[in-house]
Amino acid sequence: MKILLTGGAGFIGSHTAVELLKNNHEVIIADNFSNASQAVIGRIEKISGQKVKVYNIDVCDAKLCSRMFESEGFDAVIHFAGYKAVGESCVKPEMYYRNNLDSTLTIIEAMEKYGVNNIVFSSSATVYGIPEKVPITEDMPTGCTNPYGWTKYMNERILTDTAAANKNLSVVLLRYFNPIGAHESGLIGEAPNGIPNNLMPYIAQVAIGKREKLSVFGNDYPTHDGTGVRDYIHVVDLARGHVDAINYASSHKGTEIINLGTGVGYSVLDIVKSFERVNGIKIPYVIAERRPGDIAQCYADPSKAEKLLGWKAEKNIDDMCRDTWNWQKNNPNGYEE
Ligand code: UD1
Repeated sequence: MKILLTGGAGFIGSHTAVELLKNNHEVIIADNFSNASQAVIGRIEKISGQKVKVYNIDVCDAKLCSRMFESEGFDAVIHFAGYKAVGESCVKPEMYYRNNLDSTLTIIEAMEKYGVNNIVFSSSATVYGIPEKVPITEDMPTGCTNPYGWTKYMNERILTDTAAANKNLSVVLLRYFNPIGAHESGLIGEAPNGIPNNLMPYIAQVAIGKREKLSVFGNDYPTHDGTGVRDYIHVVDLARGHVDAINYASSHKGTEIINLGTGVGYSVLDIVKSFERVNGIKIPYVIAERRPGDIAQCYADPSKAEKLLGWKAEKNIDDMCRDTWNWQKNNPNGYEE
């Protein structure tokens, strides 16, 4: 299939591009490189041994988007493009709503105009808000704790309602848990701008000596060691899930919501210990205040993904820690020379 990846130069998009190419799909990337490096493209080509066509455009631009759809004739879209920093979304909510909703509306309108019927959307477990129980199943109540999360929630609504009105459409909403790790080649990985907001990139920067120590946000949660528990999933497993989701979308109509997680929860200190053991590096840390908006624990029931997609996470926490470090040590400054 010929597949458009919006935001395809980002962390999850780039890994998905590699897995799609491996499975003989044609990949076209649309990215405005506002939070990604142009160098990613060469790396994807190096891993896959194939050329990737890139549109350096903002997918909120309806004219440019329309032109791209007209000349390409896509079979499917995977929509990753969007702002993704929780803290920033609380400071600049309008910017988040404008960008994240506009891009989805523009894409879905272009799809309808040019008869493209399959879309996989990059959603997040953040739409479960404060879950009433774990593991989390797809039918559990939703509700968010920040504007970023609400944009995911609203985009899910936009796509679900559009598919209800247009019976030709197939929508798969993938709710990711916590993607970490990197491609085992060490050529692509997560390259945050500035101080990392998320746990694993922060640990990686402590390991490389860019940050002095990790702050562990709270050790008084009702978890096995008091620190927050999450479902960390290797980004390559996550990327494979998109290949399966695209295949599913192309043979089913309507909307499906699917969790992509491992089903196993690890605490902050579990991750620190695994990283230290696997890589033989000490990660200094201090216990700090809880981070506002954080929840005690969050992990998936991933059985629907296995049932519908035949997908299951294969990589474990040691793989995630090893591959993160392999990427970080080979690229101390991310994609910057
Ligand atoms: C957050 C977002 C989620 C988003 C994900 C991207 C919310 C509430 N969370 O998830 O939507 O998809 O990032 O990966 O919307 N921690 C520390 N020290 C740090 C950083 C994190 O102790 O320096 C702890 C946190 O308190 C948490 C765990 O590590 O317990 C994971 O945090 P993080 O990597 O930021 O992910 P989430 O908050 O789960």
